[in-house]
Amino acid sequence: MTTKKQLFINGEWHDAKHYTSLFSPYSGELIAEIPSATAEEVDLAIEAADQTRQTMLEMPSHQRAQILENLADLLEQRFDEAANIIAEEAAKPVKTAEGEVTRTIQTYKFSAEEAKRLNGETIPMDAAPGGEGRVAYTVREPLGVVGAITPFNFPMNLVAHKVGPAIASGNAIVLKPAGQTPLSAYFLAELLHEAGMPSGAFNVVTGSGSVVGEKIVTDERVKKISFTGSPEVGIGIRNKARLKPVTLELGSNAAVIVDKNVDVEKIVPRCVTGAFGFQGQVCISLQRIYVHKDNYDRFVDKFVAATNKLNVGDPFDPATDVSALISPQDVERTLEWIDEAKRNGAKAATGGTSEGNIVQPTVLLEVDASSKVSCQEVFAPIVLINKVDSVEEAIEAVNDSRYGLQAGIYTENIHTAMRATKKLHVGGVLVNDIPTFRVDHMPYGGVKESGVGREGIKYAMEEMTELKLVIFNNN
Ligand code: SIN
Repeated sequence: MTTKKQLFINGEWHDAKHYTSLFSPYSGELIAEIPSATAEEVDLAIEAADQTRQTMLEMPSHQRAQILENLADLLEQRFDEAANIIAEEAAKPVKTAEGEVTRTIQTYKFSAEEAKRLNGETIPMDAAPGGEGRVAYTVREPLGVVGAITPFNFPMNLVAHKVGPAIASGNAIVLKPAGQTPLSAYFLAELLHEAGMPSGAFNVVTGSGSVVGEKIVTDERVKKISFTGSPEVGIGIRNKARLKPVTLELGSNAAVIVDKNVDVEKIVPRCVTGAFGFQGQVCISLQRIYVHKDNYDRFVDKFVAATNKLNVGDPFDPATDVSALISPQDVERTLEWIDEAKRNGAKAATGGTSEGNIVQPTVLLEVDASSKVSCQEVFAPIVLINKVDSVEEAIEAVNDSRYGLQAGIYTENIHTAMRATKKLHVGGVLVNDIPTFRVDHMPYGGVKESGVGREGIKYAMEEMTELKLVIFNNN
């Protein structure tokens, strides 16, 4: 029998007025019926969060940390169930899904730690004439209600990157998870309730962007929006949010540069993982590779050989590396983009075809910079490998993008590396690594159309709190 899910509002499960069907991206089978909330139902969730604002504000930080530790413990206990939910709703290969659950646990543990060190600073007031005899310090106060809008590609850990810091900094939350992957969010609601989260402080409302997202973004009681998703939606949110602070984690067409003299044998396996992990549906997925001409042929041969060894298939098979894209529309779009690149002169070294919702891992060579697979975010298992005469030329190619999330450079030359760290216009530069690297406490975010603000627990907490200055006049 198909499971019918409910909205999670004010610590209770509620039937919704409307429902939509959720299908497996891999098999096409019906998984569950999902609430499609109305504006009135979202209003109830926002009101519940708003009513709990004061409770969260007054909760001592050790208690907030305890809730987060309890949550991490519960996730550890139900690890396999969590991974299976992700594998089912997102078609994420189960071994990759397990990696996501491990990271999610870490994210909540980091949040528990950071809850205890949300500190301000003292200000040396006498540094300015007229400031003598005053003692001043800052404190960080929670904004109140955080609206979290999350994507399908990391349905647990990218939710954790909003929920963890929001709780750690004393905020209540209204979460709208991605329509394709709501089950992880409902699972979280169950665990968080059991972990001791006060009723009303965490609410999950599923449904359309135009109803649920719109209400969360525009409602005055929601004081902060944290969004991960596409630039188009992110820019729309920023325009509608008025003075409300927003954190936007948007897309990218992440690139790596491979210098001459780099040991290609050593780096190829990592580059292949960066390009095809979770079918390339990762914001920092390796999409563009620029290889110095002295290393190009060797790199391409090894890369294509390694790509051809990937296991493609059922997300529940522990051996699977690459499975289905999130929707048939994405398969269609991906194939169109491959065709366009070919019309512009690119050659497919491998892949370029699909079976069901699976697009074969695809390697394109000599891709024109104006082709969509180069200049837009692919979010599919496609990577391009282009030859460059110099690292300078590669840096220019990397920077010739509307995005700037993370970029990598492999080089043996320290001066080249230093120059690249200065010249690459991105949120994070990785020397001797791919851009597809993230641990969950590091600052993470982009420039240009890759977004606004930073995640990584401590940094997200800064964006979910307001600085208050206190001055004692001792004169
Ligand atoms: C993302 O796709 O933005 C997140 C990548 C990650 O957390 O590894």
